[in-house]
Amino acid sequence: MALTKGIKIKAALLLGLALVTLGAEGASFGTRRVLAEPGAATTPGAATVFDITNYGAKPDSRTESAMAMIRAWNAACKSSGPAKLVIPNGEFRAGEVVFQGPCTAKPLTVEVQGTLLAQTDLSLFTSGFWISIEHVEGVEILGSGTINGQGEASWKFACAGMDCSGVLPVSLVFQQAKNCTMRDMTVLNGKGFHTKVLESSDIKLENLTIVAPGDSPNTDGVHISRSQNVRVTNTVIGTGDDCISIGEGNTNVTITQVTCGPGHGISIGSLGKRPGETDVKGVTVRNCTINGTTNGARIKSYHKSPKLLATGIIFEDIIMENVKNPIIIDQNYGSGKTGGQSNVKISDVHFTNIRGTSVSKVAVSLSCSSSVPCEDVELADIDLTFSGLESKGSFSSLCANVKPVFSGVQNPAACP
Ligand SMILES: *[C@@H]1O[C@H](CO)[C@@H](O)[C@H](O)[C@H]1NC(C)=O
Ligand SMILES: *[C@@H]1O[C@H](CO)[C@@H](O)[C@H](O)[C@H]1NC(C)=O
Ligand SMILES: *[C@@H]1O[C@H](CO)[C@@H](O)[C@H](O)[C@H]1NC(C)=O
Ligand SMILES: *[C@@H]1O[C@H](CO)[C@@H](O)[C@H](O)[C@H]1NC(C)=O
Ligand SMILES: *[C@@H]1O[C@H](CO)[C@@H](O)[C@H](O)[C@H]1NC(C)=O
Repeated sequence: MALTKGIKIKAALLLGLALVTLGAEGASFGTRRVLAEPGAATTPGAATVFDITNYGAKPDSRTESAMAMIRAWNAACKSSGPAKLVIPNGEFRAGEVVFQGPCTAKPLTVEVQGTLLAQTDLSLFTSGFWISIEHVEGVEILGSGTINGQGEASWKFACAGMDCSGVLPVSLVFQQAKNCTMRDMTVLNGKGFHTKVLESSDIKLENLTIVAPGDSPNTDGVHISRSQNVRVTNTVIGTGDDCISIGEGNTNVTITQVTCGPGHGISIGSLGKRPGETDVKGVTVRNCTINGTTNGARIKSYHKSPKLLATGIIFEDIIMENVKNPIIIDQNYGSGKTGGQSNVKISDVHFTNIRGTSVSKVAVSLSCSSSVPCEDVELADIDLTFSGLESKGSFSSLCANVKPVFSGVQNPAACP
């Protein structure tokens, strides 16, 4: 979903006003801390520390600490030399938090040692996110702390609108960010998506643990759209929706060493939902384990979509365990009763060395568009066995509007 700058700024201002009127005391902390910082400057190379508790944040799990965090960020951002924003041990409750750049500090690190708890009142989230890191370059967010979206209080509202997707706030979004890393943290019970990379480049998500119940709605682990050079690696994701969804407008996305499940698997798409979407080029998913999910390696596009390309896609060295649709291209996503073909052209796709078990009989299902058939689809060394309960039908592959090239082992047997 695209949010206008205007709305975001307004939200930040409103929140700011609300909190500033709550206590001038909080506001004065910031000033004091900045003045009380000469110590760090005497140690060459050491980062100046901006601890949110020195700006009014309280580790008591109750006090609203968003403005304190924003003030600490602003001080860190505007400083010069290396700076570190610290969220220390304890539980900090916060509504919408915008960490905005550009910043003069370099490098700028955010260290999450404790736990951030999202407010549970949904009316406090007017911008579609909880924490936004935006217009920054070279920011690293790390630490063994937890970002807890407290989504359990709001999942019942997930499909209250016309559309089930994108209604509840994403826990942490990078937008218009460059060369940023997020690592080592736990992201728990997002209200909506857990993390999102939007209109950004050179972003790395590493060594994260992303967890929500398997039946929580639309709680994608990582969603990436309109971005370049994004990596997700060494990460464990189990949620109620896609572990990773790679949306429109992405170039050069690499997913490695991800353990996924429960959830809906690792998906490219859904593509072609809205006008103005742009192509997906170059996605590699390698050395991953997908366990107990409804889909494994998936490409999905909407029926009746605008014209779009999805090309240069590799799913390689993947272990499936009890996955419902281990290998699936679905170009009729969301078609319901209305029909109509997808105009998303899928080409240059390789499914290579995919092993394990399937709980559905049709373990390989390539259902391409009749108006723009899939091209250059390769299946090499596919070795799946049936582990489900269904007794009807045979263990098989389905191919529609695609003529894949097969090589090596094929279990289930290649489609005729
Ligand atoms: C990217 O950011 C890191 C700090 O996180 C910095 O060390 C590195 O030089 C930056 N790379 C580029 C190409 O700007
Ligand atoms: C991964 O993150 C955990 C903290 O959540 C940390 O203890 C561990 O050292 C990290 N692993 C690597 C390889 O950095
Ligand atoms: C793709 O992204 C990776 C980082 O994830 C980067 O190292 C590589 O240079 C990029 N490739 C191209 C062709 O830009
Ligand atoms: C594959 O992933 C596993 C753990 O997930 C790791 O130990 C191994 O080194 C990875 N192999 C390659 C070739 O990256
Ligand atoms: C899949 O998950 C089950 C249950 O959590 C676990 O016992 C099993 O080892 C996992 N399999 C793989 C391949 O990771």
